[in-house]
Amino acid sequence: MCGIVGYIGEKKAKPILINGLLRLEYRGYDSAGISTIEKSGIKTIKNKGRVAELENSDEINKLNGTIGIGHTRWATHGKPSTTNSHPHMDNSNTFSVVHNGIIENYAGLKEFLKSRKYTFLSDTDTEVIPNLIHFNYQNSEEKGKKRLLEAVTNTSKMLKGSFAIEILCSDFPDNMVVVRKDSPLVIGKGVNENYISSDIPAILSFTKDFYLLNDNEFAFISRDQIEFYDEDMNIIKKEARNITWDAGAAEKGGYPDFMFKEINEQPKSVRETIGARITQNSKSSIPDLKLDKEYLKTINKIFIVACGTAMYAGMAGKTILESLCEIPVEVEAASEFRYRNPIVNEKTLCIFITQSGETADTIAALKLAKSKNAKTLAISNVIGASISREADYTIYTHAGPEIAVASTKAYTSQIVLLAIIAINFAEKLEINQEKVNELKSDILLLPSQLEEVLKNTERIKSFAQRIYKEKDVFFIGRGIDYTVALEGSLKLKEISYIHSEAYPSGELKHGPIALIENDVTIISILTNRLLVEKSISNIQEVVTRGAKTFIITNQELNHNFDEVITIPKTNPLISPILSVVPLQILAYYISKEKGLDVDKPRNLAKSVTVE
Ligand code: G6P
Repeated sequence: MCGIVGYIGEKKAKPILINGLLRLEYRGYDSAGISTIEKSGIKTIKNKGRVAELENSDEINKLNGTIGIGHTRWATHGKPSTTNSHPHMDNSNTFSVVHNGIIENYAGLKEFLKSRKYTFLSDTDTEVIPNLIHFNYQNSEEKGKKRLLEAVTNTSKMLKGSFAIEILCSDFPDNMVVVRKDSPLVIGKGVNENYISSDIPAILSFTKDFYLLNDNEFAFISRDQIEFYDEDMNIIKKEARNITWDAGAAEKGGYPDFMFKEINEQPKSVRETIGARITQNSKSSIPDLKLDKEYLKTINKIFIVACGTAMYAGMAGKTILESLCEIPVEVEAASEFRYRNPIVNEKTLCIFITQSGETADTIAALKLAKSKNAKTLAISNVIGASISREADYTIYTHAGPEIAVASTKAYTSQIVLLAIIAINFAEKLEINQEKVNELKSDILLLPSQLEEVLKNTERIKSFAQRIYKEKDVFFIGRGIDYTVALEGSLKLKEISYIHSEAYPSGELKHGPIALIENDVTIISILTNRLLVEKSISNIQEVVTRGAKTFIITNQELNHNFDEVITIPKTNPLISPILSVVPLQILAYYISKEKGLDVDKPRNLAKSVTVE
């Protein structure tokens, strides 16, 4: 959570930092601030609220420095307030620090520093960092650059938890130091200038060449040079990676919000995920996934572990993998998996799904699986993300940057990729070839079918206008449709703040039906021909109790429901990729009708890098 940005070059830093922070706001948005190095020393301006308020403050225009750091916050320690916002300074105003992550041992460090007469202004964990750097700087016997580096490396060794940190020091007006552990940080290389950020999209319009820092690596940055060090201050060599994302992909491109753009991008993002991985007449190809038939024959369980929307994609993936590969699949929230003793061993393949590749619980779960000798496969959307450094194999969804907090195109791409993995495994195992061939042709049709689904946007908007004042909404479905109900319900909660629940259709009568009264809205997904009659009976049970019904189906229905959105027929295994789209659009328009901030819903953040 939280976004950090930095600039060091010949241009004025302030507009570049503000631009970066505006792009990073999806990571946290309760306060924001920047520090620049001015002729008179380090100057810091920060406030509670959005980046736009910071940008409009009078004082900020007085900043002329060409080196600076910035931060947009998602509060963990200390409520959102100007004092608690970053950057934080040490007592002597020599160091300014922005930090992403959590310092778990900050209370002890604070006591230690207090006993040495340091004082604190904020309630944050971060404020110990600049003071600890100052303490180590004062106690260093080194001179010049080495003194600063030693102070920072010694400080990071004292910190427990996760951190990506940018540091300005008034004694080094032409430099910046950065360090990371378990929290993302990238350095973008320019000509006589360098950019720093927690996320590539925030600085993609300035450069496409990036250095990725590993845990406990430091960079000492000048305008025209970047030196990398390990935690013992040994120089290390790094190659820049060229990122092929189009800079425009991180812009709204004429759409009112990122979420609406990302919903509408799904024909393209799904096409990109498919790429050359499957074609009709040849075997699937996933070059980065080197799991052969001999290995696949040894595994007796697949675990899919993830959080939020990625977990619901995993639930759909379970049905596909079990159907094609005949291997039992278990799906679990990473935050649960990591704190119990899951039965995992060398015969278990563990798949971790994460759009950002930075979710703390998912990465911790992966480390646990590795320690139990399981092979680990990560599915991520962000090239070079932290999870890729831990997993045995990483495959990318290639959905393009997803900026809106509520995930849409990443979800559909994750399911497509899971389906391609299932095909790949079944081909290697030489089983279910007929099913595999059918699924391949159905996957190849998805991009054009998604375009068809998007044509329903206006009708869904009208339904949203009818129900946006609701207090409770129920989502139901059977089999794979139930996994879509869960995702639809999550989308609605996230961006419209309406309470909603998802149930397997057959479960309604075992309790929840007691909540159905006149005018309650029931949203039902019906895509499986074999289950449709059963599900309709469940819907009739609520209609007779006065419920309003919104149906998403690819079947011909001879019943009167309040709204029926018909989507193209597809293979039941991949139907979520089409049936989720009307639910995304519905949640979007309900949020708009309520006048809410669709892209940045309250209390949420795009990637949760804390436990
Ligand atoms: C946060 C986001 C969700 C997302 C989840 C997992 O809670 O708000 O939209 O599904 O994290 O994120 P990941 O990057 O691991 O897919």
